[in-house]
Amino acid sequence: MKTTVSVIKADIGSVSGHCVAHPELMDICDEVLNEALETGILKDYYVSRCGDDIDLIMTHDKGEENEEVHKTAYDAFMKATARARELKLYGAGQDLLSDTFSGNIKGMGPGVAEMEFEERPSDPVLVFCCDKTEPGAFNLPIFRMFADPFNTAGLVIDPSLHDGFKFEVFDVIEHKKVILDCPEEMYDLLALIGSTGRYVIKRVWKKNGEIAAAISTERLNLMAGEYVGKDDPVAVVRAQSGFPANGECVDPFAFPHMVSGWMRGSHNGPMMPVSEAEANPIRFDGPPRVVGLGFQVANGELVGPVDLFDDPAFDPTREQAAKIATYIRRHGPFEPHRLPAEEMEYTSLPGVMSKLEKRFEDMD
Ligand code: 13P
Ligand code: 13P
Ligand code: MG
Ligand code: MG
Ligand code: MG
Repeated sequence: MKTTVSVIKADIGSVSGHCVAHPELMDICDEVLNEALETGILKDYYVSRCGDDIDLIMTHDKGEENEEVHKTAYDAFMKATARARELKLYGAGQDLLSDTFSGNIKGMGPGVAEMEFEERPSDPVLVFCCDKTEPGAFNLPIFRMFADPFNTAGLVIDPSLHDGFKFEVFDVIEHKKVILDCPEEMYDLLALIGSTGRYVIKRVWKKNGEIAAAISTERLNLMAGEYVGKDDPVAVVRAQSGFPANGECVDPFAFPHMVSGWMRGSHNGPMMPVSEAEANPIRFDGPPRVVGLGFQVANGELVGPVDLFDDPAFDPTREQAAKIATYIRRHGPFEPHRLPAEEMEYTSLPGVMSKLEKRFEDMD
């Protein structure tokens, strides 16, 4: 029998401002998921958070895009939103764009990363949860895990990885998708995924079709048609025995790469890998964070997690990220700290620009 891992996340309110999801909201999500466990919808679950985003990590045997599982997540977020409104939390219900559920949570605001697989004799599954950034933030680390031999030694020395992987890339602007093989089409892949705001890695498979990674690619601002916060993404990655080792999956995050998000979803900044306890983006509403949770999946049960960035070996990365934050902050409202004009279309800037429009004259 196959096991499905479904990670569904949403920001439904935080304290203070956009910092941290209130613990009561997480407790409410826990209660709703526990009911689903008792009625047999779920096999196991773990509720986490990164900043103001609540991450519901669920296992079951119902496959991807299952109505009952998606409804469970939706009910948890709706119930917690009601409490968030009572507490007048900031952005109560922020990522829920609709108050009626119609079969699938996709397109309603929350981010979804799901995969179904036949469990191996031992099946390590890693979940990465971000705040203050967008789905394209995973392009660089996912590429490095599955395609860069300078990151993943197994691509060179392990026959079970040597064939490489297939990458599915979404064009989130034109709503098109393409599948590219690595290493054969590596340069084509990089030509796309370097444009992180448009081309986003959605899935990775082994060449034999076995699922290796899934990333949430929902772009809330594009769905809502106005700025409602960033689309803080999640990713699910399988490790070991035919996939990159656990350590090869976390090592890309030892480089605090530049991602867009941060303050008002309008700034570039370094990605800081942190423990669950340190997932509190406070300085200028950031810098952007990523939490990693390592599980063993056993007959649908989630054994663990290990808090993957709770390791002093990541201290220099955090220090470097803090230094880069100080450096780039000195640019204030200038690019490349502030996002380029095309990306600002999805923020509150057009409102300011429209006032200036009538002041412009032709230059002859
Ligand atoms: P251990 O000897 O600690 O099991 O390590 C094996 C390994 O391959 C680590 O990458
Ligand atoms: P969130 O997407 O995390 O709510 O961030 C919104 C924001 O504007 C932060 O400054
Ligand atoms: Mg928020
Ligand atoms: Mg957030
Ligand atoms: Mg957000």
